[in-house]
Amino acid sequence: TSSSNEQILSAYKWLEKLYHYLLRFSKDGQEGKEYIAKRGLTNETVDLFKLGYAPNEKTFTASFLKKKGFHLQLLQKAGILVNQSDGEIIDRFFGRVIFPIRNHLGITVGFGARSIDKQEPKYLNSSESSLFQKSKILYNFDLAKKYIRKENEAILFEGYMDVITAYQAGIKNVVATMGTSLTESQARLLRRYVDTVTICYDSDEAGIEATYRAARLLEQVDCHVKIAVLKNGVDPDTYIQTYGGDNFINKVLQPSETFMSFYMRYLKKDFKLQSKSDQLRYIQTVLKELANINSSIEREYYLKILASEFNFTLESLNQEIKAFLKPNK
Ligand code: UTP
Ligand code: MN
Ligand code: MN
Ligand code: MN
Ligand code: MN
Repeated sequence: TSSSNEQILSAYKWLEKLYHYLLRFSKDGQEGKEYIAKRGLTNETVDLFKLGYAPNEKTFTASFLKKKGFHLQLLQKAGILVNQSDGEIIDRFFGRVIFPIRNHLGITVGFGARSIDKQEPKYLNSSESSLFQKSKILYNFDLAKKYIRKENEAILFEGYMDVITAYQAGIKNVVATMGTSLTESQARLLRRYVDTVTICYDSDEAGIEATYRAARLLEQVDCHVKIAVLKNGVDPDTYIQTYGGDNFINKVLQPSETFMSFYMRYLKKDFKLQSKSDQLRYIQTVLKELANINSSIEREYYLKILASEFNFTLESLNQEIKAFLKPNK
């Protein structure tokens, strides 16, 4: 109900302030502070994103909230507190660095919480509810919005740290899907603000797979898609912390690929291209995709690449693609 949502929002407001204060200024937040420093974030960044630390003491948050008069059961449902088997109500995020998650209006509706030791899972998030729906929120959209508009482009990352590190490096039109794959409602939200979305996911297997799915979805809602390619499993946060924001702009964002170039590379994993029959099946699959491109010069650009890679004439590929083209093309 709306009054319970109001209570949960109010709890987030209190906890965001408390955790942030502890991280910045208190001895109870020392471990979190050290972790954040190790990740290369400045105080200014920590303040802007209101990062915090939930003390490594199982009942710290529960007793704070109780003193404030909150209904603890309600906060269990929100996934801030948990009921142990012995009936004791304890903190869910204790001993973790807190990333407040704001909706597009800038209101904190959930937390992401990262372990600072080897504790699994790496991130715990608030539970799904009418208030907090990961599938509808893009992390940092509220801060990025005006830069996204200005640049007519949004850069899409996977995670909290990718966004924060990029932002700190001065690249501000950045949002994240928070690990899960991009949803249609997130794609539509982006489309309302920009023509172009650059996807820059982690370069591990999961990230590459998610890139393909996100690109597809963005094309479906009529976004122009670019794909910024990282290598060797690196993610944007690690790249920027290692090589700096200028290199990220010049060597990763600038040479972004089109969806089609990415697809032609990505698709190869499904074929054994030493084999002639697989080569032909690969080419057929690419042609089917190419047939969806409306511009004939754009089609020709990729056909030329295919032709030279597999040693066919452009004419024969042009002949072959006809089967897939819709009548008006
Ligand atoms: P990653 O596994 O790529 O983590 O997940 P990361 O952001 O690079 O983490 P660091 O750099 O080690 O801190 C990307 C995003 O997926 C979500 C989080 O939003 C994370 O930022 N995620 C990941 C979860 O929600 N839970 C998890 O256990 C892992
Ligand atoms: Mn502050
Ligand atoms: Mn990842
Ligand atoms: Mn990552
Ligand atoms: Mn990372």
